[in-house]
Amino acid sequence: MNLQHRNFITLLDFTTKEIEYLLELSATLKQEKYDGIEHKVLPNKNVVLLFQKDSTRTRCAFEVGALDLGMGVTYLGPNGSQMNKKESVKDTARVLGRMYDGIEFRGYKQEHVELLGEHAGVPVWNGLTDQYHPTQILADFLTIQEHFGRLQGIKFAYVGDSRNNMGNSLMIGSAKMGLHFTGVAPKELWPEQALIDQCLEIAKDTGATITFTEDKMEGTKDVDVIYTDVWVSMGEPKEVWNERIAQLSPYQVDMSTLKNASDKAIFMHCLPAFHGKDTDVGAQIASDFGDVYPTVKNGEMEVTDEVIESPQSVVFQEAENRMHTIKAVMLATLRDHHE
Ligand code: CP
Ligand code: NVA
Repeated sequence: MNLQHRNFITLLDFTTKEIEYLLELSATLKQEKYDGIEHKVLPNKNVVLLFQKDSTRTRCAFEVGALDLGMGVTYLGPNGSQMNKKESVKDTARVLGRMYDGIEFRGYKQEHVELLGEHAGVPVWNGLTDQYHPTQILADFLTIQEHFGRLQGIKFAYVGDSRNNMGNSLMIGSAKMGLHFTGVAPKELWPEQALIDQCLEIAKDTGATITFTEDKMEGTKDVDVIYTDVWVSMGEPKEVWNERIAQLSPYQVDMSTLKNASDKAIFMHCLPAFHGKDTDVGAQIASDFGDVYPTVKNGEMEVTDEVIESPQSVVFQEAENRMHTIKAVMLATLRDHHE
C-alpha cells in the first residue's frame, strides 16, 4: 500500500482498504510505543502545524507524533502567521511547501484546506474544518476495533448535531468501513442530502447502512456505540446557543440513553465535552439557560457527567488514539515506499 505524497483532507478520498491499512499501521505504531521501540524513521523532515482555531488533542497528537518519528515541528497558532490577514491561503501554501515536508491545517473552511492541498506540493493533513474532521475518525475507529475486534457490522448511533464536521465525517467513515450508522437529531440538523446520497452509494459496496431518526430511544436501541459531540462548534456565533439548546437538550446522552444501548455498549466523544460547570462556557450556559432548560442547569450539555465517568466511557483511550493514528497518517504519506 503506497500513500506517499497523498493529502489527507477527507475520508471520501480513501478506499476501504487504504483506511484499513492506516488503522493497521496505527495499531503497530501504538504497540511499538508501548514496547519502548523507537521509530524515528523520518529524520531530516520537518512539518508545520497551522491552526486558525484552538486545539489540545490535535495539536499535541501532531507534535508528539512528529517528534516520535524523528521530525522537526513548527506550530503556528491562530495569531502566529500572516495567513488570511496579509497573505492568502494559496500564497501561504506555496511558501510553506518550499520549507516543510508536510502541512497540517485546522481552520474555518474546507475550501482552504483544499486550496493548501492543491498548491503546497507536499502532503496536507486536515486537522478539522467546518465540514470534516477525518483524523478524528481514524482514532475513533481504532478505539472501536480495540473494543470489539471489528468495524464491520458495528451498530453506531451518533446523537446530536449530525451535520457538523463530526456528524459528516463519522457518516462517511461508517459508509466506507461497513458500520450501521444512525444519526439521531432533529431533522434540521441532519447532513446535506447530497452527502447522505454519496454515503448511501458507498454503502452499497461495503454492507454499511445509513439511517436517521428524530427519536433518541429508537436510534440508540441496542447499539454498540453511542457517540456525541458539542452542540455548538468552533467558529459558530455565540447567538446560536439559544436555538441549539432548544433543539438538542432532548438529545442529551444520559444514563437512560446509555442503558437503552447494548449491555456491552461504549460511549464515545471526540472531546472537549461539556459535562459540568468546571469550564467557563459550561458555567456560563448553566447560568444563562439553566432556569429555562433544566437539563443544562449543572453545565451538563451533550452528555451527563455520570455517562462520561462511567466504565462504558472510552473517551480518554479515544483521545490517546489521536496520536497513534495521526502518526500513522504522517508516516504513510511522507515515507518513501521503496525504502
Ligand atoms: N477532538 C479534537 O479535535 O480536540 P482538539 O480540539 O483539542 O484538537
Ligand atoms: N464539532 C466540534 C469538534 C471539536 C473537536 C467543533 O468543530 O468544535
